[in-house]
Amino acid sequence: MAGLILAIETSCDDTCAAVLDGPRILANLISSQHAAHARFGGVVPEVASRHHLELTTPLVEAALAEAGVELGEIEAVAATAGPGLIGALLVGISTAKAIAAARRLPLIPVNHLQGHVAANFLEPEPLEPPFLCLVASGGHTLLAGVRDHEGHEVLGQTLDDAAGEAFDKSARLLGLGFPGGPALEKCAAAGDPEAFEMPVAMARDPGLDFSFSGLKTALVYRCRELGPEVVAERQADLAASFQAAVVGQLIAKLKRALKKGEWEAVALGGGVAANGPLRDAVARLCEERGVRLKLVPRELCTDNAAMIGSAARFARRLAYPEYLGFDAFATGETAAAA
Ligand code: KG4
Ligand code: ZN
Repeated sequence: MAGLILAIETSCDDTCAAVLDGPRILANLISSQHAAHARFGGVVPEVASRHHLELTTPLVEAALAEAGVELGEIEAVAATAGPGLIGALLVGISTAKAIAAARRLPLIPVNHLQGHVAANFLEPEPLEPPFLCLVASGGHTLLAGVRDHEGHEVLGQTLDDAAGEAFDKSARLLGLGFPGGPALEKCAAAGDPEAFEMPVAMARDPGLDFSFSGLKTALVYRCRELGPEVVAERQADLAASFQAAVVGQLIAKLKRALKKGEWEAVALGGGVAANGPLRDAVARLCEERGVRLKLVPRELCTDNAAMIGSAARFARRLAYPEYLGFDAFATGETAAAA
């Protein structure tokens, strides 16, 4: 399972390339396209694909240079196969295929969500399964039961918006820019989380599913009631109250999942896992429950290629030329998540 892996991640608006030696990161580069999308207030798929086309090859070269590794030393090439924006994914998968095929190397297609889980397998202090992992990103929110390195079981997931999507949409509503999560967290730091009552959806629901669209709508109505001047004045209080409701729901479900005492360790993944108040609340919960908590650094929560390389270590390798017809997928189940 050892060996040098080159990994590529292009599922959304970040172009990412990494080189891994087993669980050790030798290089992990990200070229963010946030500036290119900011004026549209969200990710424009076609713009993302075009940027990936320009950035992927130079970023792979830069990652190899930073790792001090020649292409000839790479043992396998990994890339995110889905879920994500199909055009963006195709750039990463095609680049990986081309690099692998030229050297007759294996290709390792990786499920993006398993990538977020697998960030926890990286050094230092890799987390060994079993553990419960809360994955909250711009496109997904789920509780994953991780019993081995190869995949995860979805124990509960959002029925509508993802937590990150709710952050992004609410940040836009409050005039906080893009990407919304970090901007909203920053603004909320100066606000009172109890200033406005916001609904914590699904808290009494016996299952482990989430829902964030009601919260977003509640914020829309609250802003309408207050009017633009008051919204601008109370921006920090509104942001803090919204953030507290998101964190409240995530914690309520995590608590419920821990109730039976089945899990002895908890981990987080996905961009929302970079959120300070969420990290603090999960730490408090784990301490209360006597459960071990693994928190990867913030830069390994948001999209990156090291997590894809990490998942690739345990994923199925496709031999040359088996993968030449392999396609990326925008949505749906994969072997890694099954
Ligand atoms: O995992 P990720 O980088 O990309 C996807 O797979 O979607 O997650 C991006 C999401 C965005 O919605 C972003 O606003 C959110 O994660 N995010 C945050 C924070 N940093 C990123 N949300 C709340 N607080 C943060 N600090
Ligand atoms: Zn992601």
